[in-house]
Amino acid sequence: MRRLRDRGFAVRCALTRAAESFVAPLTLEVVTGAPVHRGEWLEANGSGRELHIDAADWADLLCLAPATAHLLARLALGLGDDFVTTTALAFSGPIVAAPAMHARMWGQAALQAHLETLRARGVRLVGPVEGPLASGEVGMGRMAEVPDIVAAVEERLRPGDLAGRTVLVTAGPTHEPIDPVRYLGNRSSGKMGFALAAEAARRGARTWLVAGPVALPTPPGVERIDVVRALELESEVRRLAPTADLVVMAAAVADFRPARPAATKLKKERGAPGIELLPNPDILAALRQWAPAALRVGFAAETDGLEAEASRKLEAKGAHLLVANDVSRADIGFGSDENEVLVFRRDAEPVRFSRRPKSELARDLFDLFASELARTSREPAPLAG
Ligand code: CTP
Repeated sequence: MRRLRDRGFAVRCALTRAAESFVAPLTLEVVTGAPVHRGEWLEANGSGRELHIDAADWADLLCLAPATAHLLARLALGLGDDFVTTTALAFSGPIVAAPAMHARMWGQAALQAHLETLRARGVRLVGPVEGPLASGEVGMGRMAEVPDIVAAVEERLRPGDLAGRTVLVTAGPTHEPIDPVRYLGNRSSGKMGFALAAEAARRGARTWLVAGPVALPTPPGVERIDVVRALELESEVRRLAPTADLVVMAAAVADFRPARPAATKLKKERGAPGIELLPNPDILAALRQWAPAALRVGFAAETDGLEAEASRKLEAKGAHLLVANDVSRADIGFGSDENEVLVFRRDAEPVRFSRRPKSELARDLFDLFASELARTSREPAPLAG
């Protein structure tokens, strides 16, 4: 709280019941220069004023530090049984949480599921880190260092570097119907594309996400359009791309589709069907015409000859950047929460992004995209009609 005040933020503090066993409210009143909220959500004098609503309206950001396993679970479930959680429920702005607990608690499946829920809702988690824990043991679960928490708060409150820009992201696989119940598809999970869309929105861009069939929640602030087939993806991209400043083709578009999907379910008594395939249009390549002024980013999933293939695709598809990853590795890429990529550029050496969580990679990739956008000083695209 002191460090945030040093940086010019007005800070108010609310304590959970458990927190009061660790720190005296008076201390925090001195530190923040404001009354400390504690206990229930109604004012103690019985006036019936809903202080949690006032607090939620007042704040631009909610920072939970340290966030215990219990607090994180209550947040994920939407429980409101004290001042802190009812305020969180009434609050619609950004939330930064710095988890802290024993390493064994951190590893629990229930807690990890709650964290996944919170991340999907846009809660920014900082830490924990490895180090000495309250119990005296050493392990994962120590609260992140104060400067890192302050940096996360500042980052969420800084006006986004993509404000006024429009970003179009495609994500996930496409399913090409064979008959009403079967399709040709691929193993793309959509996680990388969704992380990129979340990052674009977080940076203030108007963000369109054209998503193939995946079961992922829509990131906050993202306008999502669901599609199934490559031809549907193509028509949505064609519609939206002309107004975009940046198009990121993270979708794993099926290259071929069955020429004549059966209207009724194929029966095995009829024997193995011969399925004739037709090529699907190459959407990234077509973007040269549909969005000539936009920064165009392609993805390439390769199992061998990564560098040669990626440079070839960059040229052949007229992309400005090509993000390549090696899908023959089980630890990264398809379905994984982590990825490691090599980004190929025109007239410059490739940039390597070593293995990291997809959300972090999305942030780092957008640093590159944003600087490319600025460098080529592209004018913002015309506003959508
Ligand atoms: N892509 C596309 N339309 C297609 C196929 C791919 O827009 N019909 C885009 C993908 O979204 C990705 C990039 O092109 O950004 C590379 O896709 P990839 O499937 O690796 O390229 P292909 O040209 O299909 O090459 P390959 O023979 O390796 O499948």
